[in-house]
Amino acid sequence: MHYIGNDVKDNIINRFSSHVSSGKADFFKRVGIDFVFGSRQGAYVWDAVSSKRLINCHCNGGVFNLGHRNPEIVDVLKKSIDELDIGNHHLISEMRACLGEKMAELSPGDLSHTVFGVGGGEAIDLAIKLARGYTRKINIISAKGGYHGHTGLSLATGDAQYRDPFGPNPEGFIQVPFNSKEALEQAVDENTAAVIFETVPATDGMPIPQKDYFRFALDLCQKNGALLILDEIQTGLGRTGTIWGFENFGVVPDIFVTGKGLSGGIYPMSATCFSAELETFFNKNPFIHISTFGGAEAGCPVALTVLEITSRPEFLDHVQKLADIFHQGFAALQKKHPAILVNLRQLGLMMGIEMVNEHCGPVLTKALFDNGVLSVYANNNPKVSQFLPPLIMDSDLAKETIQRVDKSLEDTKTMLDL
Ligand SMILES: Cc1ncc(COP(=O)(O)O)c(C=O)c1O
Repeated sequence: MHYIGNDVKDNIINRFSSHVSSGKADFFKRVGIDFVFGSRQGAYVWDAVSSKRLINCHCNGGVFNLGHRNPEIVDVLKKSIDELDIGNHHLISEMRACLGEKMAELSPGDLSHTVFGVGGGEAIDLAIKLARGYTRKINIISAKGGYHGHTGLSLATGDAQYRDPFGPNPEGFIQVPFNSKEALEQAVDENTAAVIFETVPATDGMPIPQKDYFRFALDLCQKNGALLILDEIQTGLGRTGTIWGFENFGVVPDIFVTGKGLSGGIYPMSATCFSAELETFFNKNPFIHISTFGGAEAGCPVALTVLEITSRPEFLDHVQKLADIFHQGFAALQKKHPAILVNLRQLGLMMGIEMVNEHCGPVLTKALFDNGVLSVYANNNPKVSQFLPPLIMDSDLAKETIQRVDKSLEDTKTMLDL
């Protein structure tokens, strides 16, 4: 029994359209991307039916940090399901304890406790619940154009276009422009429970925070009895060359959230991490927040292996080395294509290709696809293409990828007459 390529392409697309999402099927037809996710290995993914191959520089926002079907991860999952299953989310769990302990070991400061979830939105929801429950205050300040998920409270932090169809936003959510200390200072007051930011807001086109922005936010929070939550769902787990992205800014948030890559691309897992002091909130009712599948035991050895690989010094060195290759490559491309390429927004391998106008992102996405690279423009800032290669990519492939970007920029210029 195989799971890939059992039908012809048109049938797969039609069945997807009839039973999963007609809107998505129509969209991809319209933009000329008829790719069906098929075989996958390392940095590559193949079409399920044709021989079309893509270098995955989207990586689902970091899910495939360690590449597709990383052999170490696959082996661990196979062993894990020989012995474990989901476990019971109410009872004491040896594997969750091991994973919580490892998270604490790899987290700076006094961040000793973790609540596990399945997806990022759920873990952000818990971060906000905890901030409100602990501080007994209501206001949550987030960034305009930011993205923390599409579940209840995470959705409430985001832009109106994603939440307006679903009724009034819950009370207390305030957005400020990212990177503006002035706006933050005006928004935070004694009613603020938390300030929540992505360390690098991917959906907003990867604006890189000013070096002292999070320090400023943390000080402001401390002055007002509020908490700083950093969303490390894309920036965590080695993506920026350090285990956690916020390490680049010399701060330790009160709460941080990780997900995506924590699953090794193979078993869903997310985590909300905080101090023992914040954990006291749960003393009164430790069952006030539960998640049946959160931190499922079968996934814990997978996440432990991800953390073990990610924290190897040689792994983080490799990320830095790749980041340098992309930095140099894009500097050369900028000289070659000044009519389109403005800048590479970059923190390690968290990258955004900034172009001259908002038509460029969608057109570059298609051009990259035609040239064998999967990368998607930033939804809330379409002049930027998000660029997240797998962290395990080798130097030769990084250089080949830059060549493919070169060709794609040329094609985009032609298509847009730039
Ligand atoms: C920064 C960030 N936070 C939260 C989320 C939500 O995660 P999930 O889709 O797993 O709910 C995402 C997903 O793209 C994200 O990129």
